[in-house]
Amino acid sequence: MKKVLVTGGAGFIGSNFLHYVLAHRDYGLCNLDALTYAGNLENLRSIEDDERYRFFKADIADAEAVDETLRQAKPDCIVHLAAESHVDRSVQDARPFVTTNLLGTQVLIDAAMRHGVERFVHVSTDEVYGSLGPEGRFSEDSPIQPNSPYSASKAGSDFLVRAAHHTHGFDTRITRCSNNYGPYQFPEKLIPLMVANAMDGEPLPVYGDGQNVRDWIHVEDHCRGILTVLEDGVAGEVYNLGGNAERSNIDVVRRLLELVGKGEELIRFVKDRPGHDQRYAIDGAKVERELGFTPNWTFEDGLAATVQWYRDNAEWTARVRSGAYQGYYEEQYGHLGSQ
Ligand code: NAD
Ligand code: DAU
Repeated sequence: MKKVLVTGGAGFIGSNFLHYVLAHRDYGLCNLDALTYAGNLENLRSIEDDERYRFFKADIADAEAVDETLRQAKPDCIVHLAAESHVDRSVQDARPFVTTNLLGTQVLIDAAMRHGVERFVHVSTDEVYGSLGPEGRFSEDSPIQPNSPYSASKAGSDFLVRAAHHTHGFDTRITRCSNNYGPYQFPEKLIPLMVANAMDGEPLPVYGDGQNVRDWIHVEDHCRGILTVLEDGVAGEVYNLGGNAERSNIDVVRRLLELVGKGEELIRFVKDRPGHDQRYAIDGAKVERELGFTPNWTFEDGLAATVQWYRDNAEWTARVRSGAYQGYYEEQYGHLGSQ
C-alpha cells in the first residue's frame, strides 16, 4: 500500500481529496494541516476512525514540525495543497501568503528530499497566468503574470517546485486548476457565500459589474485530476485542469438565486476588488491528450448538487460562520497535545 501525505487536508479541496482517495484507492493517507481559519476537521469526521488515515497538526513553514511529521508518517508521495487561498485576504495582508505559500513550500520540498519522498505533486492555480481578454485560453506555455499577492505567492511556489526538479532531479509535478466549487468550501468564496446569504435572505455582494468570468470545475473532478497526475503524470511537467464551464459572475449568482428559490432583489453591486482579474479560461488539451483526463460534471448538474449539499448541511455553514468549528480539534484531539 502506497503512503501519501496530503498537506492542507482539512481545507476545502484537501478534505474532498482525502474522501475521494479513500473511496477509490487503498492508499495510506496522512494529513498535515496547521488548522488555520480555513482548516476544519469536521470535514473529515466520517474518516477519522479509518485506520488508513492519520492526522498531524503542523505548520508547513515550521521546519522542525514538518521534519518530525515526515519522520513519523514516512510517506512515499506528497500532494501539497496547504496554502493561504483567498485573494481578498491577500489584498488586506500579503504576509501570511508569503510565509505559507513561499517559505512553507520550500520547507516542505527540503524535508521531502531529505526523507526520500519519491514524488511531489504541487497543487497550483490558473491565477498564476494572470488575466485574459475576451478571447483565448491559458495553456501550460502561457506567460506567468500573476496580478494579486495571492497569485504572486503561488507563482513563486511554482518556481520553487520547478527549481527543485531542475536542480536536484526531485520528481515534482505541478497542476494548475481553475475555480473549484462543491461541498465543504469556506463561505468566503463566491459560490458558498452567495448560497449562504441567499438562504438567509441577506444581500449578495457582486464585485464591479459582475461581468468577470471564471471557468468552474467541480471539486470532485479536480481531485480526480490531481490523482491522475500523481499516478500517471511525468516528472517536471505542468498540467492545466479546467472545467470547460466559463460563466460570468452575475450569471452564476442569478442561477444560484433560482436554485435557492430567492429573487434578484437580493443582488447588490459593490465596489470592485482591487486589481480584479477579468477572465480565466483553461485549455485542458494537454492533460486530456497525455493522461486521458476530462471533467465529468457539467456546471448545471454540479451547481444544483452543490446547492443541495449546502441546503442539507446548513448546520455545517452555521458552525463555520459562528466559529464553533474551531473548537472541534480540542474536543476531538485535545488529549493528544500538539505535535
Ligand atoms: P482552503 O483555504 O480551503 O484550505 C487551505 C488548507 O491549508 C486549510 O486546511 C489550512 O488550515 C491549511 N493551511 C494553511 N496554511 C497552512 C500552513 N502554514 N501549514 C499547514 N497547513 C496550512 O484552500 P482550498 O481552496 O482547498 O485550496 C487548496 C489548494 O488548492 C491551494 O494551494 C490553492 O492555491 C489551490 N487551488 C484552489 C482552487 C480553488 O478554487 N479553491 C483552485 C486552484 C488551486
Ligand atoms: O482560479 C482559481 C482560484 O479561484 C484559486 O486559486 C483561489 O484559491 C480561489 O479562491 C479562486 O479565486 P477567485 O478570486 O476567482 O475566487 P472567489 O470565489 O474569491 O471569486 C470568484 C469571482 O467572484 C471573482 O471574480 C470575484 C467575485 N466575487 C467574489 C466574492 C467573494 C464577488 O463578486 N463577490 C464576492 O463576495
